[in-house]
Amino acid sequence: MCGIIGYNGKENAIPILIEGLKSLEYRGYDSSGIAYFTNNKIKIFKEQGRIEELEKILVSDDTNIGIGHTRWATHGRPNNINAHPHKVGNVTLVHNGIIENYHELKEELLKKGYTFKSETDTEVAAALVDDLIKTKENIISGLAKLKNILKGSYAFAILFDFDPDNIYALRYGSPLIVAESSIGNFIASDIPAILKYTKNYYLIDDSIAVITKDKIKFYLNNQEIHKEKLTFNHDIMSATKGGYSHFMLKEINEEPELVDKYLKYYLNNLELIPSISKYKKIYIVACGSAYHASLIGSYLIEKYLNIETKVELASEFRYKKNFLKKDDLVILVSQSGETADTIASLRLAKETTKTLGIVNVVGSTIARESQEVIYINAGCEIAVATTKAFTLQVLTFSMLIYKELLKIDPELSKEVLNDYNKLSQEIRKLINIDYKDIVNKISKHKDVFFIGRLIDYYLALEGSLKLKEISYIHSETYAAGELKHGTISLIEENTPVISVLTDKSIYEKTISNIKETKARGAYSLVIKRECLNIASDVYDDLIEIPDLSDLTTCVLSVIPMQLLAYYVALNLGYDIDKPRNLAKSVTVE
Ligand code: G6P
Repeated sequence: MCGIIGYNGKENAIPILIEGLKSLEYRGYDSSGIAYFTNNKIKIFKEQGRIEELEKILVSDDTNIGIGHTRWATHGRPNNINAHPHKVGNVTLVHNGIIENYHELKEELLKKGYTFKSETDTEVAAALVDDLIKTKENIISGLAKLKNILKGSYAFAILFDFDPDNIYALRYGSPLIVAESSIGNFIASDIPAILKYTKNYYLIDDSIAVITKDKIKFYLNNQEIHKEKLTFNHDIMSATKGGYSHFMLKEINEEPELVDKYLKYYLNNLELIPSISKYKKIYIVACGSAYHASLIGSYLIEKYLNIETKVELASEFRYKKNFLKKDDLVILVSQSGETADTIASLRLAKETTKTLGIVNVVGSTIARESQEVIYINAGCEIAVATTKAFTLQVLTFSMLIYKELLKIDPELSKEVLNDYNKLSQEIRKLINIDYKDIVNKISKHKDVFFIGRLIDYYLALEGSLKLKEISYIHSETYAAGELKHGTISLIEENTPVISVLTDKSIYEKTISNIKETKARGAYSLVIKRECLNIASDVYDDLIEIPDLSDLTTCVLSVIPMQLLAYYVALNLGYDIDKPRNLAKSVTVE
């Protein structure tokens, strides 16, 4: 979702801002804009569509200080007027988040004589800041008041006409970091935007950051405070394509090595994996693919640890009646650690129970606010369609169970450990399968169905989501036993039905369902565990998953589906890393 960049330094700001915006493109956007000081006057350029459209209208100017924004429309259509930056009076501002009380604020500001050009909540925020702050001396105290006035979430980068030397930044609930480098200082929504210049950054947290040419200052309660410098420890390559045509393909190819590193790290530091056996009931709360990983996790926790485990969509959980008890555990799963609904669920859960975050982005809100955290260590994930983070989330659930098995079932734990050692090489084999024929068959269709039962249903949900996200092929997942209650009426000659068969306890039931679809003309692609016997009339095409123990096979099974989605989207010529209307990090509810 919206991306923010700001630069104040020695170099010309325009190319730096544009480059920064491009590195935030993966977050999803539909318009972009920049504002900068030149000869102490503000200039603003904004344009609907890709950043390339913005570049077409830029002029060359002498400037060393500016802010930029990629907008993912929430209030008002994606057009030039609604694009950021917004200027009201002396204030020019870019914003990520949603101001929930912008209607009331707008009414008050209209009475004071302010007028508005756009439909956005952001322009209201700009007017509010203008109303609060009239001189340079009042900037810090004026910005501090916003916390008590604004409801919702925000990250702002702000320029004041009467202070052409500084950029101001503050946030609540939306991500924003600041960083110092040898060419100047930066504000950004995320680390990839600054990695070319520095690996060191600061979290703004509750403070107000002032970005001068050669220093970054932080203020809390009108006092200057000191903040710890953090270092991004991952390889810089993890934020670039490294020779691959797309981030998604690169990220899938990183999976073997990441799984290997993850296992080495956590198997040697098992104390970093919290023990979950003491809890009476576990809730797992997440959105999107993280929700699918959670379903897989809950199935395995119930099966192996006998703990009742309930999975909830964060966007529902936060609003419904909850039955949390103080000896329950709530696990929050999030790649970004910044998903608005998951953050809200975490805050709600913390009122009653213990919380555990399973998070990728170090220092993100969920990582910081959860009582305990397991980092999945996937490095930067740029493609909107998550792959490596999903795989490592599933592996984390496997690891939570493995830790308990050491105590309750040493035999099984040995088997799992043995299979962990094979995981990365088996992933590599799945990556190297030739998917071309199957991809050609699927690409022709408008509708695809995925089926499975129990864990295979949850895996199928993720496979189907991957396909529809990036190929725009309509794809539905059905618990195989439910086919007869509806979907089977949609099966026509050659309709692709992709079945996942890895669960030894239930696969025969799914086979009967596959046969029912075949009898109605479906094209059947079966993704099955090697050891399961199925007759050749059940499938038209077959992909086999190596037969490891359940706690490792679950990590492998999704990989062919990630690759199928990738190659189908490639075949159809779509913008794989930036699918339309989707955002990498959903920072609004
Ligand atoms: C978006 C992303 C998905 C992700 C979901 C939850 O929809 O495109 O890939 O699974 O948000 O995000 P989180 O960062 O909380 O895992």
